[in-house]
Amino acid sequence: MDQQTKQEFVRRFGNTDGAFILTRAPGRVNLIGEHTDYNDGFVFPIAIDRYTTILAKARTDTQVRIFSTTQNELTEFSIAGPVAKDSPQWSLYAKGVAEALRQRGLVKNGIDAMVSSTVPIGGGLSSSASFEVATGLAFLTANGKTLDKIELALAAQWAEHNYASMPCGIMDQFISALGEKDHAMLLDCRDLSQRQISMEDADMRIFIANSNVKHKLVEGEYQARRNQCERAVAILRKKFPAVKALRDADLSMLKTCRMDMDPTVFRRARHVISENTRTLQFAEAMASGNWSACGKLMYASHESLRDDYGVSCPELDFLVEIADTVQGVYGARMTGGGFGGSMVAMIQSHAIKELTAVIAQKYPQRFALEATMFSTTAGDGAQVVSS
Ligand code: GLA
Repeated sequence: MDQQTKQEFVRRFGNTDGAFILTRAPGRVNLIGEHTDYNDGFVFPIAIDRYTTILAKARTDTQVRIFSTTQNELTEFSIAGPVAKDSPQWSLYAKGVAEALRQRGLVKNGIDAMVSSTVPIGGGLSSSASFEVATGLAFLTANGKTLDKIELALAAQWAEHNYASMPCGIMDQFISALGEKDHAMLLDCRDLSQRQISMEDADMRIFIANSNVKHKLVEGEYQARRNQCERAVAILRKKFPAVKALRDADLSMLKTCRMDMDPTVFRRARHVISENTRTLQFAEAMASGNWSACGKLMYASHESLRDDYGVSCPELDFLVEIADTVQGVYGARMTGGGFGGSMVAMIQSHAIKELTAVIAQKYPQRFALEATMFSTTAGDGAQVVSS
């Protein structure tokens, strides 16, 4: 944070006490393993080099004041106090994290804070998870406490469930808290064990194209997918009592239950089961630097999300289609919850220019909309930059 932001902080809050606290947490892009986290499955995300940054100072009372430079809006609440009716949606993440940490006995006092972000909001790159994690770190630091990063991720997920009404899995908060530079993380969402796999290659890049669409009913659709997965598990269990989650089933088990299942539920389960297999295969391919094999799995993942899981949209399908026509692209797919958001591609660095140009030309022709594009490498997870 530059001097100007600090001056603005003092001007805005009149708080000149104590040291500035600076925390940041990255957004993420999931390379593969979509809609598997809440099925006890595997995900394979990276933290990106885009961050939510919090400049804060501790307070000696329970009041919290946060100014969002992205929303140009101030929110105020008291730790342990009720949520004000007119609270902006974004402030609920901060309120929820404060409450999760208060319940753990870690946070008593409030903060004054300014938040800014380079993670595109609503682009399917976990701007909210990065905000939750960065705010959590600011609250902890201001209260002289530290917390294991896994616990911090769980506190952030709790906030999302209980304050933002989003029944998300653990992937976004987890990678934002625990990402590692130049590594992708194979996360087992059942026991939260991780394997960091190096993806360092001077010539390979992760390319992101934000479709800049967000179709309505996303939360409802997300919950609906969760319910369908649960229905599939209930049916599978009748024949295979050891199945606790779709993670425990394979395709041959699923096939034996086909007649007992609604065809939509069958397709949803087929996506999750096949996606888990693809994710493990992807991790192996990446560990041996086999980018073409990774790319093929990305296209297969996209098809499965589009046809079986029903969470893609014409804009994302088109972006993936375009990517597939460019030489030097290993693979591409939609990333995140779906119904809009971003496409992710693995690409040779020399091909970035062409892919950018082709999307910039063709996407607006089809949808009267521009895509926002950038390339990234895997960055570090959340940190207290200074305090
Ligand atoms: C959203 C959720 C994650 C995960 C993805 C789909 O990003 O927050 O927990 O379920 O969708 O993979």
